[in-house]
Amino acid sequence: GNCDIGLIGLGTMGSALALNIAEKGFDIAVFNRTTSVTRDFAAEAGPLADRITPAESLQALVEALKTPRMILLMVPAGKVVDDQIAALLPLLGPDDLIIDAGNANFNDTNRRMAELPGRFLGIGVSGGEEGARHGPSIMGGGPRANWDRAAPILTAIAARYKDQPCADWMGEDGAGHFVKTVHNGIEYADMQLIAEVYGIMRDGLGMDAAAVAEVFRGWNEGPLQSYLVEITAEVAAASDAATGGPVLDVIVDAAGQKGTGRWTAIEAQHLGAPIPVIDAAVTARNISALRARRAEMQAIFGAGPQPITTDAPEMAVLEQALICGKILCYDQGFGMIAAASKQFGWSLNGAAIARVWRAGCIIRSAMLDDMASALEAAPDAPLMAAPTFADHLKRTEGALRRVVALAALHGIAVPAHSAALAYFDAMRTARGTANMLQGQRDYFGRHGFERLDDGTKDQHGPWAG
Ligand code: 6PG
Repeated sequence: GNCDIGLIGLGTMGSALALNIAEKGFDIAVFNRTTSVTRDFAAEAGPLADRITPAESLQALVEALKTPRMILLMVPAGKVVDDQIAALLPLLGPDDLIIDAGNANFNDTNRRMAELPGRFLGIGVSGGEEGARHGPSIMGGGPRANWDRAAPILTAIAARYKDQPCADWMGEDGAGHFVKTVHNGIEYADMQLIAEVYGIMRDGLGMDAAAVAEVFRGWNEGPLQSYLVEITAEVAAASDAATGGPVLDVIVDAAGQKGTGRWTAIEAQHLGAPIPVIDAAVTARNISALRARRAEMQAIFGAGPQPITTDAPEMAVLEQALICGKILCYDQGFGMIAAASKQFGWSLNGAAIARVWRAGCIIRSAMLDDMASALEAAPDAPLMAAPTFADHLKRTEGALRRVVALAALHGIAVPAHSAALAYFDAMRTARGTANMLQGQRDYFGRHGFERLDDGTKDQHGPWAG
């Protein structure tokens, strides 16, 4: 065959990626389990149809490809991927490369990598349909040589920040899917922080959706410039065809989730890495899903969030609180990445990760460029200690404190902001309170403690008899 690459799975993301690949000048063979989907896709490819070879069987797909072959999987994560690999393997040669571009759990990618040594690559792809079509952010993982083989295509289709492609090799094994998972955890947290500020505006300050939209539109011109703030303004501004009112007002307040944010929380616990803002965001989605229960509890415990009538915060204060929460969230995300790097022996490069996230992905923002510089300058230091971000935190900490306090006093739930503040306070407390935990552990279980004064270990208190 003479196609440069094959793609299996013509769902929303797969179709968009295939068109993107063809548009960048590569010949691509495509296959979908349902043949009519493959045919329709090729028929609707317009001017790109020349570069697209529809295959009606896996055999035909494989035969359409140049050897050694490269096949991109864009099928639902989990068992479907394993089934697809099993179906492909008998048709492939030892030098053929399978690339899983779905939202895989990185533990699965690690396993598949071990089962297919030198023949597998796991890439995290972010940016939704629009990104897949015109330039996603791509986080590659697996043997470096495999990445290098696929890189000409993957960098060609990726988003560009200035003129640098947002596609890079993150590390061995499932490192690409791991980084994508953390990306999604941060995505949940960025979204939750924004939703909480919206809650203060709506319930605390009585602002309507149009006013909310206006504020976010303004913030998108400043330090908070980001895709998520931009679309927040658009979501808030949109009106509903049926009611004529804001569409936000007719959307049920229960968030779905496909699981990647939850994986971040789970993996962070395995690593012992603190990511409380992300944890809070995942938990907030779980709480949002308990809609009937929330209504019952509101009936028992009172009228829900109360208007903030005195000391109402200026918009600038909310903006600063959001900046502060966001920085603390990213400090946690990059801290988790550093912990994984150590644990799995991956030498993940925080600056390279921040660079790949600057364009194409859902969490893209102006701040990520500064984060890339900070992590470049001091790769081993926490983000919050980097001079630029330490300065931001010092400037905005008071606003975060004020917003969390006001929300607490008025019954407005701001779990991600609260978690950010508690993290900040705990992290800047040199002498914490775990001496009490150690005392308790020693009391009931003779677990032993280390003495502060002389550093001797396995000491016991006077209670141990
Ligand atoms: C991206 C997104 C994407 C994810 C959706 C839905 O980077 O393009 O992270 O991969 O699937 O955002 O996630 P939830 O359904 O879990 O909200």
